[in-house]
Amino acid sequence: MFRRRARARSASATGADPDASTSAENPDPAVPSDEAGNPLEAYFTANPGRLIQKWVHYLDIYHRHLAGYRGRPVTVVEFGVSHGGSLQMWKHYFGPAARIVGVDIKPRCAALAEPQIEVMIGDQGDRTFLRYLAEEIGPCEVVIDDGGHTMAQQIATFEELWPGVVDGGVFLTEDTHTSYRPKWGGGYRRPGTFMEYAKSLIDQQNAWHSTEPEAFSVDDYTRTIRGMHFYDSVVVFDKAPVPRPHAVKTGTPSF
Ligand SMILES: C[S@@+](CC[C@H](N)C(=O)[O-])C[C@H]1O[C@@H](n2cnc3c(N)ncnc32)[C@H](O)[C@@H]1O
Repeated sequence: MFRRRARARSASATGADPDASTSAENPDPAVPSDEAGNPLEAYFTANPGRLIQKWVHYLDIYHRHLAGYRGRPVTVVEFGVSHGGSLQMWKHYFGPAARIVGVDIKPRCAALAEPQIEVMIGDQGDRTFLRYLAEEIGPCEVVIDDGGHTMAQQIATFEELWPGVVDGGVFLTEDTHTSYRPKWGGGYRRPGTFMEYAKSLIDQQNAWHSTEPEAFSVDDYTRTIRGMHFYDSVVVFDKAPVPRPHAVKTGTPSF
């Protein structure tokens, strides 16, 4: 039912040359060298490819958390394809060994596949689709949720994709300001919003120290969320095995 994966074998019809990114040094001459500063900003400003729509301050957050994956054979999944520009930006940023997978509800986005870029069509609010997707994609290093931004979509996407994120991987949920906007199901401290959900994950992260097991206790999130980073409109989750914390003393006592 969901088998609408488009895997390009030939050049796309964009103004950008998809094969230009085979050079790790300067994948696209239209984009200034990224030796200094944030290469995402350089790409976004010069954008030689398809249309991208991003809040500008996200570019710094991305580079801060994703730079370590550049030049590596990573699988990067982005929910929300729109015009396909951000998929091309990720291709440029992560380099020729990266596999970029875009996911969108609109069937027309399947046409935006190109070398290194796959597009899968489905509804991220549908957990059956998300489970199918996670199995199809396999382990991934980076997941970016820039899809429909409703509360149910953001929570379902995190819960269904998180298990497939590799140790050392990163999951970014963006446009979390929708948690404060009624149009998307948000409201200040409204139960059920993504931000309230994320705050509950802070509790789970600290569940090692719970003295109220009926209220909260160690679970898979406690054991796999190494860190959470809260920015305006973006939450970043770092994945790694988290052992039971322990304290030790070293050095000579002073008293
Ligand atoms: C903000 S745009 C994505 C922008 C794109 N990432 C960029 O940076 O240019 C949001 C996209 O999410 C898609 N979308 C909306 N609801 C969705 C859903 N339930 N499942 C999957 N995609 C959805 C829309 O079709 C739209 O293309």
